[in-house]
Amino acid sequence: MLKGIRGMFLDFVDDPFYEDEKKCVRFLADGLLVIENGTIKELGLYENIFSKYRNCQVDHYPGYLILPGFIDAHVHYSQMKIIASYGKKLLDWLGSYVFPEENKFKDYEYARAAASLFLDELLRNGTTTAAVFTTVHPQSVDAFFEESNKRDMRMIAGKVMMDRQAPHYLLDTTEQSYEESKRLIRKWHGNGRQLYAVTPRFAITSTRQQLNMAGRLKEEFPGVYIHTHLAENVDEIRLTLDLFPDCADYVKVYEESGLVTDKSIFAHGIHLSDSEMKRLSKAGSAVAFCPTSNLFLGSGLFNLAKAKSRANPVHVGVGTDVGAGTTLSLLRTLDEAYKVLGLQNQKLSAFKGFYLLTLGGARGLSLEGKIGNFDAGKEADVVVLDPRTTSLQQHRNSHHPQPLSNIRDVSEQLFALMCLGDERVVVKTYVAGSVLYSRN
Ligand code: GUN
Ligand code: ZN
Repeated sequence: MLKGIRGMFLDFVDDPFYEDEKKCVRFLADGLLVIENGTIKELGLYENIFSKYRNCQVDHYPGYLILPGFIDAHVHYSQMKIIASYGKKLLDWLGSYVFPEENKFKDYEYARAAASLFLDELLRNGTTTAAVFTTVHPQSVDAFFEESNKRDMRMIAGKVMMDRQAPHYLLDTTEQSYEESKRLIRKWHGNGRQLYAVTPRFAITSTRQQLNMAGRLKEEFPGVYIHTHLAENVDEIRLTLDLFPDCADYVKVYEESGLVTDKSIFAHGIHLSDSEMKRLSKAGSAVAFCPTSNLFLGSGLFNLAKAKSRANPVHVGVGTDVGAGTTLSLLRTLDEAYKVLGLQNQKLSAFKGFYLLTLGGARGLSLEGKIGNFDAGKEADVVVLDPRTTSLQQHRNSHHPQPLSNIRDVSEQLFALMCLGDERVVVKTYVAGSVLYSRN
């Protein structure tokens, strides 16, 4: 069955960090997106293609901007309840708030309710894909994937591994972690749109034996992801190097166990040497830039220009990192990214920002063939945004003619969206062609 969406479309066909921005953007002032069985059949100018699809039912959104669903490159579904918890820096905050809350996920029903709320919140924010931390409990993974599968959302998640430096009630063992992860990989990796990530929390909470086991799982199941934290906080780095005295730097700790791969997602990567960045680049790994979290915990300023250098390019996505992050809105997160970069004399244009939320995020998560833009054959995850939601936004954007006709106006309106937008601007969220969220 065919379905259509009509309105102003914007997506990316290339990386504006390396190519002329205007050549990377695809903008259709009056476009028609045709969807067949959850997959994109065609995107074209309405007047050029509508006659081919005369009996297709069309949702029309005049005045709104239509983008590919947003991609959150790093977030913890288990930490929603402790978002905005007053504390010290990372390690203290983990002990005071995160670990006690994650203990509750031993209860499948608690985990399932949290997963359901979390996924609905993502949809309310226009986020259709995320790389998600669960907890050490396998039932927290089953609960998450059950809910995600029910919504047919493309999600990456996996069981957290921790066998030391955490409260006893959250520890697993190498053997147990291996067996449970293997069962979960077999059950969920490639089940519908679900994808599995082998998820050692970070180097501090895993022994070498456990990290090696994680590497072994990646060898046995080459299609799975590796998802962990890296170089977020200076005390974390000091303790890591104390615990792994044979390693010259943090990346080396993961390299030694075969965890630095082209399907590895490293959250943060704030304090990385040139050599470490270069090795991530060579491996084809991705870093999740999580500005609200990095500011909230006082972790530091991520150097995006270094990660996106031409010489040693590293894939970058944007993560909300809730509960250290203070919002699930990737629009609010872009606003903070802009400021974090401004403090380092770097600029984040609107096109670069929205690229990171869509095609850039998809590339970082090795999902470019499936999501990230409106190319034919991709899965139809779509977000519809209203740039004039609040009275301030109406005032800010009142001088733009509708529909937008030139790329400068588009860029300006997008920039205002990234600075002023939040979940209120999200009008509809489509997942695989179906409306899963609708603003009242
Ligand atoms: N490093 C290890 N675990 C965590 C976590 O839960 N949140 C953040 N921000 N960093 C971490
Ligand atoms: Zn995190």
